[in-house]
Amino acid sequence: SGDRKVTIVEVGPRDGLQNEKNIVSTEDKLKLIRLLADAGLSRIEVTAFVSPRWVPQMADHDAVMRRTPAREGLIRSVLVPNDKGAIAAIAAGADELAVFTSASETFASRNINCTIAESLERFVPVISLARSHGIPVRGYVSCAVDCPYEGEIAPDAVAIVSSQLMDLGCHEISVAETIGRGLPERVSLMLERVLDRVPAPMVACHFHDTSGRARANVDVALDWGIATFDSSAGGLGGCPYAPGAAGNIGTGVIISHLMQRGYATGIDSNILQLAEEFALSLRNGCNSGN
Ligand code: HMG
Ligand code: MG
Repeated sequence: SGDRKVTIVEVGPRDGLQNEKNIVSTEDKLKLIRLLADAGLSRIEVTAFVSPRWVPQMADHDAVMRRTPAREGLIRSVLVPNDKGAIAAIAAGADELAVFTSASETFASRNINCTIAESLERFVPVISLARSHGIPVRGYVSCAVDCPYEGEIAPDAVAIVSSQLMDLGCHEISVAETIGRGLPERVSLMLERVLDRVPAPMVACHFHDTSGRARANVDVALDWGIATFDSSAGGLGGCPYAPGAAGNIGTGVIISHLMQRGYATGIDSNILQLAEEFALSLRNGCNSGN
């Protein structure tokens, strides 16, 4: 490992806050994003341009995106499910879009109200619009190991959807362990199949940490040559349509784990700690105003 560099994609302002019962104020979201950028996180998923009826926590997406200032070295990414979201996100100044589908039909239906095939069709105009603006698009594959409704998911199903997203023009595929139950052995089998079709530099891993296995899963992914990981400040997160799923692996947790293993991440641990404390205060709903 030695001097290998790992890139962290901070998803706390989106994956973290979308699942909190209390709706966090726009000001507090902006403060969290600012602290995370100050800590040196170079890729931050700031919000989701999804339906406010489906995810009310992200209803202020336009304000959050518009009021997150551009910074040298910072990519402000947003989740978009369709062309309506993409048009709004690009108008608001997003640097990167992220489309999301699933390796499980039931999860796709519950989360985005369509089949996997229909979701891929929806991404075609999203990606061509993004391309015409020079904006890269990341693709998520949920339920890469287990589905909350269908149970175990076949590694080939994940590999097929991942390569379809790549073929559509996604620059990176984030394979997501949505419910955090995956054993390292099964994560490894999944990655083996995905990497048959998608080169390792294009693959990111998104581990939820419901069962405390996320670090072991990160180690498996590192062994497969994965160098991009999603994490969430304070370990917040979960998906409203994945019952029982806990947060993503915490950003502080993964950074110290990687540092112990000799990887460079370029994050300032002291500022990150402030960001994580602030994120946790938002979870508890004890932060009034800003
Ligand atoms: P639908 O109801 O089938 O869509 O929802 P529709 O096209 O029939 O539209 C219904 C209404 O939504 C209409 O409004 C549209 O305008 C509006 P109305 O005319 O009825 O007032 N609408 C939108 N509004 C704002 N932004 C949009 C948008 N699109 C339509 N982009 C839809 C389909 C995909 C929109 C809906 O299912 C949705 O928003 N789903 C998002 C669910 C979500 O955000 N889940 C959490 C994020 S994914 C996740 O957490 C997993 C991840 O972390 C990886 C992992 O861990 O697995 C990424
Ligand atoms: Mg997630």
